[in-house]
Amino acid sequence: MARLAGATPVILPTSISDNFLLKPESLASVITEKSRLLILCSPSNPTGSVYPKELLEEIAAIVKKYPRLLVLSDEIYEHIIYHPAKHTSFAALPGMYDRTLTVNGFSKAFAMTGWRLGYLAAPKHFVSACGKIQSQAQLTRDPKFVFTSLIQQHCTRKCPIHW
Ligand SMILES: Cc1ncc(COP(=O)(O)O)c(C=O)c1O
Repeated sequence: MARLAGATPVILPTSISDNFLLKPESLASVITEKSRLLILCSPSNPTGSVYPKELLEEIAAIVKKYPRLLVLSDEIYEHIIYHPAKHTSFAALPGMYDRTLTVNGFSKAFAMTGWRLGYLAAPKHFVSACGKIQSQAQLTRDPKFVFTSLIQQHCTRKCPIHW
């Protein structure tokens, strides 16, 4: 996907000795002024690692130094988590809301695998831009698109949706 967008992906290796968590110093060593998107996944698939809040704060401090860098935070496993781990939403950290695109979905927490029903939470200008692309990409009969279309119809008619 990064290559399709004309970007060069930089994969940062993690290790079992660090619980497969990104080390802030490794991140700092590869980020440049040209970096545009940091992709985080916590709780993570496939490692199951959960980023502690303190580590995310260290990552946020690095992100702050690069004003053109955004963060895509995949939090689809936020409810599949076991004590004592705690989920922290990256966008909730001070100063990070404006920089973060949070992606989530229903397939894990609500056992709706196959529905391909996901959502994006981000500042309105990012969501509007993504909406423009998605509105031109409904090329399949995928249930996600059918469901999205249902939601759009409900929103247009201003009907409440009861989950
Ligand atoms: C980390 C992560 N994000 C997103 C998804 C996408 O889930 P789905 O396509 O079922 O909505 C998956 C699916 O395995 C995943 O592991």
